[in-house]
Amino acid sequence: MCGIIGYIGDKNAVQIVLDGLRRLEYRGYDSAGIACLSDGRIKTVKCEGKIKDLEQLIKTQNPELLSSQLFLAIGHTRWATHGKPSSLNAHPHCSGGIALVHNGIIENYATLKDELKREGYKFISETDTEVIAHLINKYRANFNLEEAVKQAVKMLKGSYAVVIIEDKEPDKIIGVRMESPLVAGIMDNEKFIASDVSAFLNYCNRVIFLDDGEMIVLRKDNFEVFDINGKEMKKKIQTITWTASMAEKGGYKHFMLKEIHEQPRAIADTIRGRVLPDGSEVVYKELGIRFEELALTRKIYLVACGTSYHACLIGKYMIENIAKTPVETDIASEFRYRNVPFEQDSLFIAITQSGETADTLAALRFAKKSGVKTLAICNVVGSTASREADGVFYTHSGPEIGVASTKAFTTQIVALYLLTLALAKAKGLLVEQSYISFLRNLLMLPRMAEEALKLENRIQQLAKEVYRKPNFLYLGRGLCYPVALEGALKLKEISYIHAEGYAAGEMKHGPIALVEEGFPVVFIVSDDFYLDKTLSNMEEIKARDGFIITISDSKKEKLKKLSDRFIYVEGIHTYLNTVLFSIPLQLLAYHVAVLRGCDVDQPRNLAKSVTVE
Ligand code: F6R
Repeated sequence: MCGIIGYIGDKNAVQIVLDGLRRLEYRGYDSAGIACLSDGRIKTVKCEGKIKDLEQLIKTQNPELLSSQLFLAIGHTRWATHGKPSSLNAHPHCSGGIALVHNGIIENYATLKDELKREGYKFISETDTEVIAHLINKYRANFNLEEAVKQAVKMLKGSYAVVIIEDKEPDKIIGVRMESPLVAGIMDNEKFIASDVSAFLNYCNRVIFLDDGEMIVLRKDNFEVFDINGKEMKKKIQTITWTASMAEKGGYKHFMLKEIHEQPRAIADTIRGRVLPDGSEVVYKELGIRFEELALTRKIYLVACGTSYHACLIGKYMIENIAKTPVETDIASEFRYRNVPFEQDSLFIAITQSGETADTLAALRFAKKSGVKTLAICNVVGSTASREADGVFYTHSGPEIGVASTKAFTTQIVALYLLTLALAKAKGLLVEQSYISFLRNLLMLPRMAEEALKLENRIQQLAKEVYRKPNFLYLGRGLCYPVALEGALKLKEISYIHAEGYAAGEMKHGPIALVEEGFPVVFIVSDDFYLDKTLSNMEEIKARDGFIITISDSKKEKLKKLSDRFIYVEGIHTYLNTVLFSIPLQLLAYHVAVLRGCDVDQPRNLAKSVTVE
């Protein structure tokens, strides 16, 4: 989950690499470094801290790097896996004239390190990465750089994206990919390589996504791609339609706030092209799975991590209720080791914003290996999940930079809703009238999300009242239960307040013990079958002097009376209210975190995509 970038061309390479690192910082941010070729020698600058600390260090200690004729550089922003955050452990790592940056984990590094030490190589860091530098250096004695890299990676077990430069080869950058993303940017006289296109999108939008086991050799004016055996590969150059400004803050104080406000647009983009303009039909060919396959599906597995897992839970309620198909949901880190005996005619759906989450990919691979049909609901185009699954449903919500997922979550719900309707239709379960009414409801969602965003001032006031509270409970029933889980996750991850989400019906089985005078309990209540049951739970909290905050589309008097603070959200229907209720919960988490002075976009200890187990 580190971020890597490399550049070769005719501009100052250090400036470009620093710029790319700033855009990649969300991937990891405990230390950073660059290496460049200066006067025929590799020069590295590294430090613990954020990219601004690295920039400051370069400005004070090596200002010439920012102005001189320097055409080759690589950079790295780290999220520690082996060895604590420190300047010694920061990348690039060097051996001889080799410098490299790495994203991933080398599982057999300890054995390799022992062997290399016996051969006389000196290690100065605690990282697994340093073995790669020494290995390449070792093979370099007998091979050219490309061949030395190939020999070295043959020794590695694990996941890696590595970008390498060498003092003796000033005209090239080499990149190798194995289970960690790597993408090259192609211009006539400049080349980029990075773990994520957002690193160089402001310069270049023509890209090549590398596949596992591929190596790319980039020169200023040409490139070659090889497989692990040295066979030349023909790769398609793709054009990215996201603009660099889409990946920037667009006037908001934080990416997270911008992304919360982007939801009406993002939801519309998820729907776009997937419902006929007259709202009468789902466009099946845009779903990543064929109508006939849906008709045959007898069981669905929804698997993901974190926020995406909460979308799975919402999907379960939708699919089982509307499409009458049994759904099993699981957290990917559990699912991958569960040896699930898949039932016949099952469909496995991995939900992942990034498409790079290690556990979700492992679960997806397990399903594929078991012969099950797979689908990825994914945001990042060209990501590993999108390429490995049999089909992909892109949410098209645009780059999500804030570590806390917001628009990715709500667009995942929209994707699941569309798939649910398609499934129900394919199975002949929906009469025309209800099919159309479900679709009409969906087409209203972007506008209703705009309405929900108008609650921001009220939520900000509420945040002022509660931001000092040390604990929160979030409760809901039915579809509001996963919404409660997600509300609690949002609050805890960005404000560091302890928050728990629970099924309201479970409250009496434990969490109620926490409730005392002023204890904040957030109830998420849809105007549906569960309403009266939830009211009883609210009475129980009231009886213990808890502080009730209600988010609901019901105007029932009793509900308002039991609530200390009542936030009315104009609803559509229970299924889509999950999206509308999530918006005030995201805003509450955001404003509480801001009032507590937290680093909203880069909360401590977290990384945007968890590409290690
Ligand atoms: C929380 C959050 C994480 C991710 C999780 C899965 O706000 O963002 O819990 O949802 O790491 O990530 P993806 O969806 O990229 O697989």
